[in-house]
Amino acid sequence: MKLIPSPSRTELRGKSILLGVTGGVAAYKSANLLRELQSRGAKVQVVMTEAAQHFIGTATFQALSGEPVYTDAWDQRVSNAMAHIELSRQADIVLIVPASADFMAKLANGLADDLLSTLCIASNKPLAIAPSMNREMWAHPATQRNLKTLISDGAAIIGPDTGDQACGETGLGRMLEPYDICEAVTAMLTPKLMAGKRVVVTAGPTYEAIDPVRGITNRSSGKMGFELARALANAGAKVELIAGPTFQLTPHDVKRTDVTSALQMHAAVMRNCEPRPDVFVSVAAVADWRVVNASDRKLKKTAKRKVPELEFAENPDILSEVAALPDAPYCVGFAAESQDLLDNATAKRARKNVPLLVANIGPATFGLDDNQLLLIDENGHRSTAVRSKRSLATELVKEIARRLPMPGPGLHDDGFAFQKSDS
Ligand code: C5P
Repeated sequence: MKLIPSPSRTELRGKSILLGVTGGVAAYKSANLLRELQSRGAKVQVVMTEAAQHFIGTATFQALSGEPVYTDAWDQRVSNAMAHIELSRQADIVLIVPASADFMAKLANGLADDLLSTLCIASNKPLAIAPSMNREMWAHPATQRNLKTLISDGAAIIGPDTGDQACGETGLGRMLEPYDICEAVTAMLTPKLMAGKRVVVTAGPTYEAIDPVRGITNRSSGKMGFELARALANAGAKVELIAGPTFQLTPHDVKRTDVTSALQMHAAVMRNCEPRPDVFVSVAAVADWRVVNASDRKLKKTAKRKVPELEFAENPDILSEVAALPDAPYCVGFAAESQDLLDNATAKRARKNVPLLVANIGPATFGLDDNQLLLIDENGHRSTAVRSKRSLATELVKEIARRLPMPGPGLHDDGFAFQKSDS
């Protein structure tokens, strides 16, 4: 089963999505997609083709969306009797889920013989389609030709996936799961504050071996780092995520490298600093020490009950090293402190020589969905509200983006009220 992060009701707040449902067995999954889009704050308006109604009824979508479902180009409920124009003008994006082979063919050839196809042609909004069909239908030269046409016409294609199909066959053509489609749509609708930037992010714990089956690690879940990697990618950055051992799912459009120990994380980060990224965000809880006399065999209890004696060496401080590089990227550090948060975190920012340090308010955020952060920069500090890590990640991306040299107006002038630090 897929682990789904706790929903954030803010990511798609104010966005209006026109969900077009066409005739495929995956149409029932569009109801879940609608719920997922709503859980992120979007308003969803559903339009169905005639064929779609053979798979799922209008009442389901009407009940879930709280809006009338449109199926007919001549619908009299639209005041000017021009549903195809009205509906697309109200939307931020037109999303066709599932998109059947027939509907793709119609779109690619500009046919407009029902409400949804007419609406797509009349639309002045981005179009995204999630194909869903039997693998032979997907592989057919006609479908592939239509796909190319749709891409060159500017449509975003979400999926398809490979796997078991309702017809009993296995292959490429099944629809992506609603959560993944929602992730792709969220990325499309996120302002590209980090466009053109390359960002290296570390996340999760490290694991220092004692012997082949035992080791020293910490309680970091990787949630905050993965949410940040996701938010940075959604904002248009090219993201390289270097992750310690964690069960987090790799976010959409993020390149992930898995490591185990601090030394491996150090090597992976340094490799990714050639050429220099624009930004380095160090969220990982890196072990300060490693065991230098780790055994290559499992340590056994001895008859004399002698406990093993471990010897430690200090691990490299990855963040300090990156911050000290010539032409260093813009560095963001994290801190978890158990006491004197502001003083310790301010001192850490200076010691590691990073422009922005983010401290967890409250030491026990490991593994939780919510967090509260204290942001410290050269001007002072400010704390966030207690929010989901997902929405804190979006807030942090804005904070990072406004501190970077960026072309274009508007990113640097929204002056957050920082309090001056005494130290
Ligand atoms: O020194 P401390 O572990 O409290 O500092 C935390 C910050 O430094 C985090 O950003 C963490 O990712 C980074 N760090 C590091 N390498 C280490 C230890 C911490 O990059 N060896």
